Amino acid sequence: MKKQILVAAMVSCTLTGNAQLMLKPNNIDAIVKAMTLEEKATLVVGTSRQGSTGGNQTGNGMIGAHADAVPGAAGTTQPIERLGIPASILTDGPAGVRINPTRDNDKNTYYCTGFPVGTALACTWNQELIEEVGKAIGNEVLEYGCDVILAPGLNIHRSLLCGRNFEYYSEDPFLTGKVAAAYVRGVQSQGVGTSIKHFAVNSQETARTEVDEIVSQRALREIYLKGFEIAVREAKPWTIMSSYNRVNGPFTQENRELLTTILRDEWGFDGIVMTDWTGQRNTVAQIHAGNDLMEPGQPVQSQDVVEGVKSGKLKMADLDICVKRILQYLVKTPRYRQYKYTNKPDLKAHAQVTRQSATEGMVLLKNTNATLPLSVQQKVSVFGITSYDFIAGGTGSGDVNKAYTIDLMTGLNNAGVKVDETLSQVYLNYKNFQLSLQAAAPRRGWFWGKEAMPELALKRNVIENQADRSDVAIITLGRQAGEGSDRQVENDFNLSDVEQQLIANVCEAFHAKQKKVVVIMNMGGAIETASWKEKPDAILLAWQPGQEGGNSVADVLVGKANPSGKLSQTWPISIMDAPSSKDFPNLRQPKTVNGKKEFTDFTNHTEGIYVGYRYFNTQGKAVSYPFGYGLSYTTFEYSKPVVKSSGKGFTASVTVTNTGKVAGKEAVELYVAAPQGGMDKPKKELRSFAKTRELQPGESQVLTMTVSAYDLASYNENTQSWETAAGTYNVEFGASVEDIRCTASYKQSKKAVVKCHDVMKPSIKL
Ligand code: BGC
Repeated sequence: MKKQILVAAMVSCTLTGNAQLMLKPNNIDAIVKAMTLEEKATLVVGTSRQGSTGGNQTGNGMIGAHADAVPGAAGTTQPIERLGIPASILTDGPAGVRINPTRDNDKNTYYCTGFPVGTALACTWNQELIEEVGKAIGNEVLEYGCDVILAPGLNIHRSLLCGRNFEYYSEDPFLTGKVAAAYVRGVQSQGVGTSIKHFAVNSQETARTEVDEIVSQRALREIYLKGFEIAVREAKPWTIMSSYNRVNGPFTQENRELLTTILRDEWGFDGIVMTDWTGQRNTVAQIHAGNDLMEPGQPVQSQDVVEGVKSGKLKMADLDICVKRILQYLVKTPRYRQYKYTNKPDLKAHAQVTRQSATEGMVLLKNTNATLPLSVQQKVSVFGITSYDFIAGGTGSGDVNKAYTIDLMTGLNNAGVKVDETLSQVYLNYKNFQLSLQAAAPRRGWFWGKEAMPELALKRNVIENQADRSDVAIITLGRQAGEGSDRQVENDFNLSDVEQQLIANVCEAFHAKQKKVVVIMNMGGAIETASWKEKPDAILLAWQPGQEGGNSVADVLVGKANPSGKLSQTWPISIMDAPSSKDFPNLRQPKTVNGKKEFTDFTNHTEGIYVGYRYFNTQGKAVSYPFGYGLSYTTFEYSKPVVKSSGKGFTASVTVTNTGKVAGKEAVELYVAAPQGGMDKPKKELRSFAKTRELQPGESQVLTMTVSAYDLASYNENTQSWETAAGTYNVEFGASVEDIRCTASYKQSKKAVVKCHDVMKPSIKL
């Protein structure tokens, strides 16, 4: 409706003689010149929060009138009809498009596909596959009339307790950057944009809108910015979202050193930066910093811009740069092209994309005596309430309004597995009871989405009965998390007593009858495993695998798909083993302010670059499962490691052979141990990776990886430069960070240096 009005307005402008002033890709400077100050101030601020339904907070009117073209989209940019400048529509992200599934007075539905969460995608280590997922998501962005998806999320898994880790990829910045670049390429191949977020150092949800993340310049460059740098350089995202938090003092959206010096001058970013959904801050500082667009936008921010220019606090030149960049973005959008979207993407085809991609991100953590795959002849007792109330994705803006979620029970039935119905009925009754409790007293609103149900405490004799009646037990453990808060240690990272008891009792009862137990983990983040992992025979980490979740898990359980996922983060023995824990909100000692305990003021990154395996592997500290770990139903042999200098770095190749009995894929991780070069360095760092195609038993493939000298560099704060030390580099081909299968070496003859700006200094020495 609104779209029609806008198009009509544009046509009438053309007819009334303003044609020369209609926005075109080649007249952007002239348009900037023709714009009034008020028009410029309108363009840099999203459509007001007032007067609309849908968006970030359904019913609260986070977005304005023009967003009604796509109800439920998160935000818009404002149109200026006299100059043919269209509105554009921004939608969440990242696990699929997030819009309202139904509309007033409209019988059609607008469901979107719920794809596997970000962490699950990263665990595929398969850039081509992620690009395919990106294409399917991009197609839904396009066909539902949106211009940009507010994704991917690429903050670092600094702590396993961050509530939004499921949206993010890894503790490792290289893997993060490559996965993000693949997602961006896929989405943008459809002629729509991405917004890589949250820039930067938004690795906690507690106090996210005020916390000051205090981090060394080296850790900033090597760990927290690196993924963004890779994604920007390799995939050219149309937009970037600055984060809610501060870094070393200023808010990121007001930080010119971050948004201009580093992002544009050093990395060459030429798209637009938009704020996270912040509300009013220092508008003038934001424009000056190079934060082009304020979302979701409030009229007062436009007034700030006008007053800023009039009072001389804001230079027109600074404003013009932002305006120009927004226009350059707009001419790329489907809305500018007046693309005739169908509202009918091929949801059936996309369901297949999510079903298959999810299996590749699943990580087989344990499989004693080939417990998996199951034979469909085996009768299965399915334990754990999450088996019946499967979790497709996380909560908050990262949730997707999908048409359905396949639960594990249904998936097993679809795969022809015989499920014991007596036990299932017990759980289904309990689920209905829980649903009635939730309906009577909803504990969480829209923002939190669907919560995980508390586990059912089963009596021992019920479990023993099941061990008599069936051949194998499956237990699903579930976790839910999302935007706005971090995870807890007790009854979340650590298992609850009921869960511990369930695993112990089921294992005891089934093992007493020589029957096996499989644990499925349906969650977006890591949990404690060391205390119970010896008990079951097999453990499959299914993550939150999207709307086809139950089918995807069943495909793996019966061997229709062979899991080839590997962990994108270290799973420690105890949460306190991670060096970030002592500085993480709720774990560190709070500061007492006016008699109140507060965590909100700052987070010191005292561990510096030693995040994840960079810490555990360097220190030789035992973990429950190392970074990069994951089993398969087959086995692989690595041979013939070769490293050849290319003059600008090296190419490394290795032959991978499937030495087992079934077809499968293998991800090879390339770690490099660098000479110290006068700096303290991790024992080794991931510098490349590659994955085989599906190899039949006996089949081999040579994988080749390229590493540049710049990829090998460390950031030296004393010289403010990336330095690749001269000397011998040990190149390790690993099945995980702890499982190095073969090695070679590379000689860097001369030290290589890339000079950077001395910016974003913390005020304290960490
Ligand atoms: C989230 C963003 C999201 C935006 C719009 C914010 O609260 O942090 O990730 O894109 O809302 O919904």
